[in-house]
Amino acid sequence: MGSASNSKSIVSMRKRLIFALDVPTQREALELVDALAGEVGVFKVGKQLFVSSGPEIVKQIRRRGGDVFLDLKFHDIPRTVAKAAAEATKLDVAMLDVHASGSVEMMRETVREVAKTARDERVKRPKLLAITVLTSLNRSDLSRVGVKSTVESQVTRLAKLARLCGMDGVVASPLEVARIRRECGSRFLIVTPGVRPASSDVEDQKRVMTPEQAIRAGAKYLVVGSPIRNAPDPVQAARDIVAEMQRGTRLP
Ligand code: C5P
Repeated sequence: MGSASNSKSIVSMRKRLIFALDVPTQREALELVDALAGEVGVFKVGKQLFVSSGPEIVKQIRRRGGDVFLDLKFHDIPRTVAKAAAEATKLDVAMLDVHASGSVEMMRETVREVAKTARDERVKRPKLLAITVLTSLNRSDLSRVGVKSTVESQVTRLAKLARLCGMDGVVASPLEVARIRRECGSRFLIVTPGVRPASSDVEDQKRVMTPEQAIRAGAKYLVVGSPIRNAPDPVQAARDIVAEMQRGTRLP
């Protein structure tokens, strides 16, 4: 590959790396945003940071030119989720997520309300992602709440339902990516946490994939937190992950 097309590919891969801002304060979060602004595509704000810092953290990241994935995993009655998603849209986030198990009506109403708000506010419509089955749950957890199918078939069922409702994609574990990609087609977004660089020491190799493997399996975006945050040099760690992602687009 020539160096011009190689650097183009690095830029496009960087856009597909989501960094999880799993820290307790706005100050720590913004230090990481400033350090990693040129290295990752999207900053993920989850429940811990949002509860401590509120919408202001999203505004601060937007002010610095960063894209935000507001990962609050909404699950409530349709109107409540749709209105919360509308408020997130006004904050000009690039992505937000809701639980697919919250119902068809909940997802449909959210899709409608977000599209309308984006038009009214003249902001880009955020990508709407569905949570299928949390990666922390296994078959026995599902069984205890009355879901008798396997994790894999429940994930596929909910991913297809989300797609039918007009959602843009799902958040899914690396192990589920290939199946969802097959079932939901090439345009459906798959955002994948549980990614560990090839160099890292992981206790349970079965539950994770390397960036290269996850991209090869069909993930559009990767979510990475601690391997970057806890690295001695977070900037270099992010660059190494982007390079690994890039390898996943080449022929094996
Ligand atoms: O483990 P790491 O720090 O890379 O996790 C980054 C993000 O990915 C977390 O914010 C969490 O929401 C998500 N995650 C997940 N399932 C896992 C591990 C992490 O959804 N098994």
